Amino acid sequence: MTTSLIILAAGKGTRMNSELPKVLHPLGGAPLVAHAIQSGASVSPERIVVVAGHGAEAVEKAAQDYHPDLTMVRQIEQLGTGHAVLQAKDALSDFDGDAIVLFGDTPFISPDTIEEMIAARAKHAVVVLGFEAADPKRYGRLVMSGDSLDRIVEFKDASEAERAITLCNGGVVAAKASVLFDLLSQVTNDNASEEYYLTDIVSIARDQGLSATAVICAESETQGINTRADLAKAELTLQTQKRSEALENGVTLIAPETVFFSYDTVIGRDTVVEPNVVFGPDVTVESNVTLRAFSHLEGCHVSQRSIVGPYARLRPGSELSEDSKIGNFVELKNATLGEGAKVNHLSYVGDATIGANANIGAGTVTCNYDGVMKHKTVIGERAFIGSSTMLVAPVTVGRDAMTASGSVITNDVPAEALAIGRARQENKAGLAAKLFDRLISIKAKRKKDI
Ligand code: UD1
Ligand code: MG
Repeated sequence: MTTSLIILAAGKGTRMNSELPKVLHPLGGAPLVAHAIQSGASVSPERIVVVAGHGAEAVEKAAQDYHPDLTMVRQIEQLGTGHAVLQAKDALSDFDGDAIVLFGDTPFISPDTIEEMIAARAKHAVVVLGFEAADPKRYGRLVMSGDSLDRIVEFKDASEAERAITLCNGGVVAAKASVLFDLLSQVTNDNASEEYYLTDIVSIARDQGLSATAVICAESETQGINTRADLAKAELTLQTQKRSEALENGVTLIAPETVFFSYDTVIGRDTVVEPNVVFGPDVTVESNVTLRAFSHLEGCHVSQRSIVGPYARLRPGSELSEDSKIGNFVELKNATLGEGAKVNHLSYVGDATIGANANIGAGTVTCNYDGVMKHKTVIGERAFIGSSTMLVAPVTVGRDAMTASGSVITNDVPAEALAIGRARQENKAGLAAKLFDRLISIKAKRKKDI
């Protein structure tokens, strides 16, 4: 049986107290909705339908950034989770398989759990995901008779006895798409919230003699995000997971609790990550790299045996070849470093290509921006850029060339040439001593005048 996903992402998320739609709040560097799509995509669905509403344009754009092949539908008024799923009906009218409903605000559902729900569909018309809640709060409660799920009751509508149930609704539902839409067409909003509840399909299915059950997963998977506090808790969960994964994969983290990963960070074996390193999205670090303390990396690739930091910043488009070295207070952006190249101290290298074994002296700046456009700097193999060189792009320094310290390089430098671009030094004998005397007497006179 083929499956399609329906991802609910139309809600405002009032309790987030935010201008940003709830499902766009970032977790591990990616919006919540991207996490739900990623979990679901693991079962290779035939179609993925995202239901957007509140902030629809932004939600659609963000979702498509993470998964280009999505069907977007809109829920104009947010009348409840059941009403939201119904908006996917037309998009799936010619689809004959199972639909799996995932919530955009529930990012930790594992692929194994979704597989288990698909398997349970062999025996039951409706399969819901449940979990034993340590503190059930406002979650919907699952009313079971043995293995059979009788109905789901929302917290607001539950009796005292029902509120005492600790088996809760995790939000994932699996059913044949046509059955799901048929059941949903019978749902009313006759409840405490006056919403069309997706959860009501269970009792309607049972009344029609269809069977329903719950697949139980760990509570950590069903953590839903409704408040900023929930989001902070989810971030901790994700970081804890990523840190253990890195350690298991043979990465040394000297102080794991101080290292922050993105949802997609990749790090090779025997790489050492010192304390307080932060990974933004889209970072790949190969094996045997040393990432020294307080470095910040995003959108970059670091090859084997390179050393980065302490206090280095690798911005998007930074590409380090093997054995390269980036030292303290160095910023790279859209820059490629050849094998063994070094930028050791206090430099900005942007929109640049640095050849193998080139050495960029302290305080070098690629002046890449003229206030309107960006320009490129190219430095050849084994070139030596003297400290505090300003490379005014577009500019090329040839292989084996040198620039003198403090130069402002505005013209290309041929291979093997030495470029000096600064005023010639003049020494005035005895002038410093005279100047000191004069300044000291001026200062003394001022004191007397006061
Ligand atoms: C829902 C469940 C509850 C379950 C909990 C698990 C219902 C009625 N209740 O409650 O049983 O324990 O999730 O986290 O299903 N959404 C829309 N359109 C709407 C309303 C919601 O797209 O009109 C989306 C939201 O963006 C969100 C998801 O559906 O991604 C869940 O909505 P939310 O309001 O958070 O439901 P809960 O009250 O948490
Ligand atoms: Mg919720």
